[in-house]
Amino acid sequence: MNFKQWLAGAVSETDRVIDSYLPPEEGWQKDVISAMNYSVRAGGKRLRPLFLREIYRMFGGTGKVEEPFMAAVEMIHTFSLIHDDLPCMDNDELRRGLPTTWVKYGYDLAVLAGDALAVYAFETASKAFSMTDRPDRVSQSMEILARKTGIYGMIGGQTADVVMTGKSLSGQQLDFIYRLKTGALLEAPMMIGALLAGADEGQVSTVERMASCVGTAFQIRDDILDVTGTSQVLGKPVFSDEKNHKTTYVTLYGMERAVKDVEALSAEAVSILEGLPGSHGTVAGLIDLLMTREK
Ligand code: IPE
Ligand code: IPE
Ligand code: MG
Ligand code: MG
Ligand code: MG
Repeated sequence: MNFKQWLAGAVSETDRVIDSYLPPEEGWQKDVISAMNYSVRAGGKRLRPLFLREIYRMFGGTGKVEEPFMAAVEMIHTFSLIHDDLPCMDNDELRRGLPTTWVKYGYDLAVLAGDALAVYAFETASKAFSMTDRPDRVSQSMEILARKTGIYGMIGGQTADVVMTGKSLSGQQLDFIYRLKTGALLEAPMMIGALLAGADEGQVSTVERMASCVGTAFQIRDDILDVTGTSQVLGKPVFSDEKNHKTTYVTLYGMERAVKDVEALSAEAVSILEGLPGSHGTVAGLIDLLMTREK
């Protein structure tokens, strides 16, 4: 089986896991649940749960305790996208090839669906307690997920992104934004995968370093695709950054350096990966995919 075939199977297995943790659309609150499920089921590359599971397996994990966390991290990521697309943020109308949540369900329900997914993610992750004889690893994983989502992670990065919009940014400020708004939600699943499989503290922090390179490379590639891609392939609008007067890696350093730095950061991630135990094939394949992706 080649990597592409493996990936297709792994994505559909990931979809099955995520789907199994989505709430039933019933009760007086069913409108918000429909908006949550619509946004999660719209698809996406599922990179964060894929990394979580593959690193779990790389460190020798065998059970199913990682599954609630796979669903949880995709819920958090989807919440970040729902809010990112709101009129008060990036004001975008297409996501994952479908109308954004606020376009489909209204501004009010989109805010609530994001909030609801953020919280339901932790309700979901807590299901892992009954699936393990190592509750300490589950609680540490929940702490990581919370920290990397909140003010020291994605929300902190989105805050800096928003308040610095339209201003000229230094390279250091841009690095900070990328490390938090995008890097943190790639660090969390990779660290959790390692931790749940029994990796020690040093190994978890090595994984964090690797994931941070992946995160920055991932966001630079996202900035590149915002100008070179098509909305049909991306499933989201192009030129969103220009519309919103964002400083990006491409506007700050130019396209040539952006392309080079994606390659360099990916190579650094792979070289950190090589120092970790287990077989690296699928994780290295995922990193490679990020570097060359067209969507
Ligand atoms: C988009 O993330 C937002 C960024 C952090 C750049 P993805 O490119 O992983 O989006 P999906 O999940 O595939 O839709
Ligand atoms: C947002 O970055 C990252 C998030 C935390 C959602 P972008 O605003 O560039 O993401 P896209 O391009 O809309 O997916
Ligand atoms: Mg944004
Ligand atoms: Mg955006
Ligand atoms: Mg973007």
